Amino acid sequence: MLRHHENSSMNSKINTYNPDLPVHMTFEEHDWHLLAEYWYPVALARDISEQPYGTMLLDMPLVIYKAGDELIVAKDACPHRGVPLSLGKNDGQGVVCRYHGLRFGKQGHCNRIPAHPEQKISPRFNLRTYAAVERYGLIWCSLSTDKEATPNIPVLPFWEDAEYQQLVCPAVDFQCFAGRQLEGFIDVAHFAWVHPDTFGDPENAEVPDYKTFETKTGFNADYWSSVGRYPIGLDQRGKDGFQWLRHFEIHLPFTATLTIHFPNNTKQVIMNAASPMTARSTRLFAPICRNYDKDLPVEDAYDFNLKIFEEDRLVSESQKPEYLPLDLSIEAHFPADRSSSMYRKLLRKKGFSPLFAA
Ligand code: FES
Ligand SMILES: [Fe+2]
Repeated sequence: MLRHHENSSMNSKINTYNPDLPVHMTFEEHDWHLLAEYWYPVALARDISEQPYGTMLLDMPLVIYKAGDELIVAKDACPHRGVPLSLGKNDGQGVVCRYHGLRFGKQGHCNRIPAHPEQKISPRFNLRTYAAVERYGLIWCSLSTDKEATPNIPVLPFWEDAEYQQLVCPAVDFQCFAGRQLEGFIDVAHFAWVHPDTFGDPENAEVPDYKTFETKTGFNADYWSSVGRYPIGLDQRGKDGFQWLRHFEIHLPFTATLTIHFPNNTKQVIMNAASPMTARSTRLFAPICRNYDKDLPVEDAYDFNLKIFEEDRLVSESQKPEYLPLDLSIEAHFPADRSSSMYRKLLRKKGFSPLFAA
């Protein structure tokens, strides 16, 4: 599940020696350091137990496990000879490495070296751990933030609201750059073309004008249109004349929260949190809050959203170049692209490269 990137033909550089950098870099080092300052989801909380779980963030292989109540996210490489701990098993007192049996427990500290059971264990054998917290049913992590700092995680409205149902879709992998995926999520001109089988209407392709507003962490956009969001075929669909508001809150670099205002004062909030595994592979996490259909099976909501993401995936994975051109002169734009132009401008302003994640 994790190793698609190894088969791809994309360039990756091997870093000379810096244990805090991934061995293989698919990002420009300059962009990597900027990206490492942010928080990203790296797993569904329901997938995490005391057994080691392997994943990747910004080219860095990660292992996630629990020791009692403690959540540990660490570099997935044994400090002894670099074997991934995610190949090992937890024996109740920690994760045991597959190669020579070193065991790692609370705080990622090595608590056993079977070859030398009496020897005092040097801190050099401890895992390199990262700041991590659980929020919205996801494990979030930052590769460079000080562990004591308050996590800078985007807000998901109604996550704590008892009037709303909270659900977390299974993650979806996109073989594309996170910036391309995120831009697809905030694009309002593709509904009629990419989503006619889910919620779009091929007869309703014109995009009314809308505005964007810069915020501290990115920007917001309010998009009013007659494009509904009920599944195609449901008779609730097409309430004549209803104007749907889609309120987007973009939190740089790769998260956007979309609140869709449904008829009868009901709402759905969906967070598109794109987690950059490498420069060309992205794991999409999508927690959702809604105050309607709360009695329907959550599987129906998962299926509908996964179908929409699948429609998007085919397009995002085909885009060339794979990078996101922050230099606006590289691609052509029309007025409905107001959000994506804003997105690119603000990323550029943060200092990301003009050919972002080439
Ligand atoms: S490589 Fe892990 S114990 Fe030797
Ligand atoms: Fe889409």
